[in-house]
Amino acid sequence: MLNIVIFGAPGSGKGTQSDKIAERYGLQHVSTGEILREEIASSTDLGKLADSYMSKGELVPDCVVIEMLEELIARNKGAKGFIFDGFPRTVPQGEALNQLLQRHDETVTIVVSLEVEDEELVDRLLKRGAISGRADDNRKTIESRLRVYYRQTAPLKDFYRSKDLLKEITGIGSVESIFESIVKEIDKVIV
Ligand code: AP5
Ligand code: MG
Repeated sequence: MLNIVIFGAPGSGKGTQSDKIAERYGLQHVSTGEILREEIASSTDLGKLADSYMSKGELVPDCVVIEMLEELIARNKGAKGFIFDGFPRTVPQGEALNQLLQRHDETVTIVVSLEVEDEELVDRLLKRGAISGRADDNRKTIESRLRVYYRQTAPLKDFYRSKDLLKEITGIGSVESIFESIVKEIDKVIV
């Protein structure tokens, strides 16, 4: 199996690149943010709980997302592999993912981190907010998402660097050129 983690700040292009990677390598795209937004749209109990965090730009508690992921992996046992987008987001989530994959005799193959400076991130998200109206794409929530990223999620880079899995890639430029750089790194670890 090929198990890729795509990592990066809000607006760094995780979703955009994950779609392309999933298609290229035949992987199951797992976006915890998308799953949670679907729960919110369906007004489920999980959605209501998630909304109370997401609307403030805070992380949904680890136990909630870890359980979600456990179910998803179990349901997709036949998959060729996964691209994890927006998960893990804390060190405990990173540890949980390792344990979860280990149970299926699997590991994380590579972690791709998209590097984009804050100004560009805010710009992209404000622009998307003006068009698509994702509820958390407003200035106040964007600022909170960025703070949360640096405080709670960025420490995972050291976690994966120490396991020699981290590949940092410039997330600025055309979607195609960034994709090409990602493919180069993935192809190095699968051949
Ligand atoms: P999530 O849905 O994961 O959102 P995010 O991390 O804030 O990131 P985005 O989805 O906004 O950005 P992206 O990196 O996917 O970039 P995209 O490709 O869309 O999480 C949302 C919330 O859910 C969290 O705040 C949290 O509350 C909760 N949550 C989710 N997972 C969780 C977890 N594991 N634990 C706890 N809580 C969790 O691109 C952004 C924009 O830029 C788009 O408009 C795109 O068209 C544009 N763009 C993309 N690439 C380029 C480029 N190269 N040049 C110019 N523009 C570009
Ligand atoms: Mg996304």
